[in-house]
Amino acid sequence: MIGFDVHSGLVEQLNQGRSHVDDISDETLNLAISQGYEATDDPQALSNADVIVVCVPTPLSSDGGPDLTYIESAARTIARVASPGTTVILESTTYPGTTEEIFAPLVTAGGLMLDVDVFIAFSPERVDPGNPTYGIRNTPKVVGGLTTQSTQRAAAFYERFIDEVVIARGAAEAEMAKILENTFRHVNIALMNEMVRFCDDLGIDLWNAIDCAATKPFGYMPFRPGPGVGGHCIPVDPSYLSHRVKAQLGYAFRMVELAEEINEAAPTYVARRAWRILNNQERAVNGSTVLLLGVTYKPDIADCRESPADQVARTLADWGANVRYCDPFVPNWLPQGWKGQTLKSETSITEGARGADIVVLLQNHSAFDLQELASTNVAVLDTRNVLSGFDNVEML
Ligand SMILES: NC(=O)c1ccc[n+]([C@@H]2O[C@H](COP(=O)([O-])OP(=O)(O)OC[C@H]3O[C@@H](n4cnc5c(N)ncnc54)[C@H](O)[C@@H]3O)[C@@H](O)[C@H]2O)c1
Repeated sequence: MIGFDVHSGLVEQLNQGRSHVDDISDETLNLAISQGYEATDDPQALSNADVIVVCVPTPLSSDGGPDLTYIESAARTIARVASPGTTVILESTTYPGTTEEIFAPLVTAGGLMLDVDVFIAFSPERVDPGNPTYGIRNTPKVVGGLTTQSTQRAAAFYERFIDEVVIARGAAEAEMAKILENTFRHVNIALMNEMVRFCDDLGIDLWNAIDCAATKPFGYMPFRPGPGVGGHCIPVDPSYLSHRVKAQLGYAFRMVELAEEINEAAPTYVARRAWRILNNQERAVNGSTVLLLGVTYKPDIADCRESPADQVARTLADWGANVRYCDPFVPNWLPQGWKGQTLKSETSITEGARGADIVVLLQNHSAFDLQELASTNVAVLDTRNVLSGFDNVEML
């Protein structure tokens, strides 16, 4: 098995047995190397492959639309080097239609013929970093090919190491399934982030209401409010779909647009709640020291991409606060759009809380000793509902 990447530094690092992926330990990588895995930046290595799986980034472009340049470039490389008989599977999250309209024409541009020389399918990545229960093997894998043969070959490949392979009607349905999953989360989190605001005004404990609703054994799935959505999936993927709907059909995907508006406002709302706590203590944000606890987009991982912590930090700093943070996974942190110098993590909660006027718990890493935090007597805004019952703690 080879891993091809255009980033030579990364290739070197992987071949030295040092993993850059949260969920893959150096030990696991070294085991793979001992069994023949090798990383390379030489595209010619792809010419020996029976199956090529493409998992390049799919970010947003500067105008907020899909940026498919990585997919296009990967497809061109494959067209140049793939041997007849190769199965090519796109795994990058993208809008429905990409595999057929953008990816396949580029893969076949050099003369490879679909169903004769090359077989093309889409199968969404469903990795959930930090999830202790579901990994590659026991997460069902959806596969949709451009042709029946393509579907069969891609499914046969995944069946070798995944317990359950689910056949979609076609590539577009497999593409849509992935965006549906992420849009579903995005919209439901937005619903909670809107409700948390008026529940606070009404004096109703939304967290408790969610726990009560979650006892219903059918027809309900709990989502919880928080400081906003982060990562490279939830804030990005629904935009791929809404952009597609607008570009192709001319009308808006209103649910996603509203969810984006609500979730993008969530970090500023958290900053305002911190402001209110300080105000009740007759302190101004300006000149106060704020400790942010946990700045990654999920617990127990080091990934800070699109983390709402960036906006919380920026807003509080713009209001004149002295922003500090503590995160065992992020020794140094430069929030997006940050005007100051790179921040350095406090070594412990106690250390960080010393001299802080307020602590804002943004991410609940299991390494945090929350009892220690509650016993500091510093005012705490808990955006994750993990510290209920303490006088110094206010829940989002
Ligand atoms: N990481 C996850 O947990 C996850 C989960 C679900 C879906 N996805 C989707 O998978 C895709 C990849 O995500 P990621 O987090 O692994 O991205 P990433 O940015 O961490 O890694 C992508 C790699 O692709 C390399 N690359 C870029 N262009 C290339 C090219 N033309 N040829 C070869 N390599 C190239 C980059 O150098 C980089 O190392 C995205 O579409 C993402 O939405 C990721």
